[in-house]
Amino acid sequence: MIISVVVAASNENAIGKDNQLLWKLPNDLKFFKNLTWGMPILMGRKTFESIGSKPLPGRMNIVLTRQTNLFIETTQLYAADGLEKALALAVHAGYKELFIIGGSELYKQAIPLADKIYLTRVDASFSDADTFMDAIDPTIFQLVSSEQMPKDEKHLYPYRFETWERKPA
Ligand SMILES: NC(=O)c1ccc[n+]([C@@H]2O[C@H](COP(=O)([O-])OP(=O)(O)OC[C@H]3O[C@@H](n4cnc5c(N)ncnc54)[C@H](OP(=O)(O)O)[C@@H]3O)[C@@H](O)[C@H]2O)c1
Repeated sequence: MIISVVVAASNENAIGKDNQLLWKLPNDLKFFKNLTWGMPILMGRKTFESIGSKPLPGRMNIVLTRQTNLFIETTQLYAADGLEKALALAVHAGYKELFIIGGSELYKQAIPLADKIYLTRVDASFSDADTFMDAIDPTIFQLVSSEQMPKDEKHLYPYRFETWERKPA
């Protein structure tokens, strides 16, 4: 199965503060929705709480947690107590790609396994950030596409949609 990471990060690789995002970029939310629609998404328990402890519609939601009985599982919402279990759930449901959507604890474990990284680079700095991702290692991943987006009245910062792929071994 293809393992894809989806992340938005500032120039310093900041991804959050107080269990929330640091910016409002409606076009990035649209990009995220289009990319993941109909697909399985995997998130850490804290990220799940940050989106209101409800599954994102139209997708198979898998939440990584070591707690039991955190929520009632449904056909849209599953708990997994480890990455392997999460991958197995998506494979068992017949999917060929899994999107790992954060947060930092999960990125740390998943990027070493990832085939692809969809990175929205927010061209700004946030001195109050409290959560970061590791920098993408250019010896392991190569940039295969990059689309620059300007700031406008709805987007306070310019940003860039980048796709990184694992280099062949
Ligand atoms: N900018 C972005 O693209 C983006 C995307 C997503 C999130 N974020 C931000 O990231 C922050 C949250 O990240 P975070 O690092 O604090 O938390 P997180 O990665 O969302 O969740 C951490 C939790 O996941 C569970 N977990 C992690 N690894 C596990 C494993 N191997 N097995 C079982 N459970 C595991 C644990 O839950 P239990 O404690 O329940 O066991 C752990 O406490 C927020 O600020 C959020 O807004 C940013």
